[in-house]
Amino acid sequence: MAEISILGSGAFGLALAVMCRNMGHDVTVWSKFPEEIQEIRETGELSGKLPGVKIPSDILLTTDISSIAGKEVVIIGIPTSFLRGVVKEANAYLTEGTILVNTAKGLEAGTYKRMSEVIHEECPNHPVVVLTGPSHAEELSRGIPTTVTVASEEVKYAEYIQDLFTCGMLRLYVNTDVIGCEIGGAMKNIIALAAGISDGSGFGDNTKAALMTRGIHEITCLGLACGAEMDTFSGLSGLGDLIVTCTSMHSRNRRAGILIGQGVSPEEAIKQIGTVEGYYCCEAAYGLAKKLNVPMPINEELHHLLFENGDVRESLRKLMGRPNRHECEHYMTLNQIERLKHGLNGTNC
Ligand SMILES: NC(=O)c1ccc[n+]([C@@H]2O[C@H](COP(=O)([O-])OP(=O)(O)OC[C@H]3O[C@@H](n4cnc5c(N)ncnc54)[C@H](O)[C@@H]3O)[C@@H](O)[C@H]2O)c1
Repeated sequence: MAEISILGSGAFGLALAVMCRNMGHDVTVWSKFPEEIQEIRETGELSGKLPGVKIPSDILLTTDISSIAGKEVVIIGIPTSFLRGVVKEANAYLTEGTILVNTAKGLEAGTYKRMSEVIHEECPNHPVVVLTGPSHAEELSRGIPTTVTVASEEVKYAEYIQDLFTCGMLRLYVNTDVIGCEIGGAMKNIIALAAGISDGSGFGDNTKAALMTRGIHEITCLGLACGAEMDTFSGLSGLGDLIVTCTSMHSRNRRAGILIGQGVSPEEAIKQIGTVEGYYCCEAAYGLAKKLNVPMPINEELHHLLFENGDVRESLRKLMGRPNRHECEHYMTLNQIERLKHGLNGTNC
């Protein structure tokens, strides 16, 4: 059994804490906010984040970040906007050999960096494993069967985490395409927001299926341009996470989108729902796609709606009125590049 610290006592941090404790690991949860720790101590749960889930009383709760010293694994469950600050502070207390497991999904505002890149910059002496895939905290914490991907540049670290966390209700698959896993995990939140707006606007299942399918297409295009591998996007961190986020009412991104589709302003929707990573990721992806010259029409319209006071019907008209294309047109070019890199011929996509 391992000694595990979790940074962040939000929905996902607590879900992983419950899961790890149920597996017999020693678990410590750190929060910057004493009120979160106090509520869990007093009531046994954190109603605003993970209502109805009892947090085992033998999980150590603390606001002292030095408590991460000596742990084998430190899991990061902090929203992307605050992650750099937290891991920078944490680095001073990390022990040699500690593996960092990141669960945050997004890109850093301004730099467009993936979260593992941010963690490597702040904690340069520690291996980083990315844990991602279709895994709502509400279900994971209740023991509902779940599969995720664990990705690391050096495969031994992802395999270590795979062995450590595998249990009857959680199955982990290893992937070495860290870029693809992180791009898929970050970008699906954007499409979930768009899918929510579609639902909230009263459009149908056809529309949502279109957004999801063309969404994974533009996510893949961006990923390939960043150096990811194509296959990753049909896996758990790509298609798998996209499906769960676009179709579930557990998804805060989708729920925020529904409110926006019903006429609530984006700012008000974010205020009501809380952590909506897709809102911030939309802006970062918009800048990154421009920089890399990757067309992302859905994200461009989402950007227009969220940050330029756009109108849903007008965005729909623009998306539906784009010049006619072949389905795999852009893909084909990128796939060819990818295949050429691997010395393969052919143009299938
Ligand atoms: N909720 C899920 O089902 C789920 C699943 C997979 C991945 N994730 C990812 O995990 C990350 C965290 O999501 P969540 O759902 O747990 O969010 P959350 O809003 O439920 O909780 C975030 C927690 O982070 C901490 N935090 C917030 N602001 C902070 C700050 N300024 N400084 C230090 N700590 C701060 C707090 O403890 C807070 O409770 C996100 O990137 C999300 O995409 C969430």
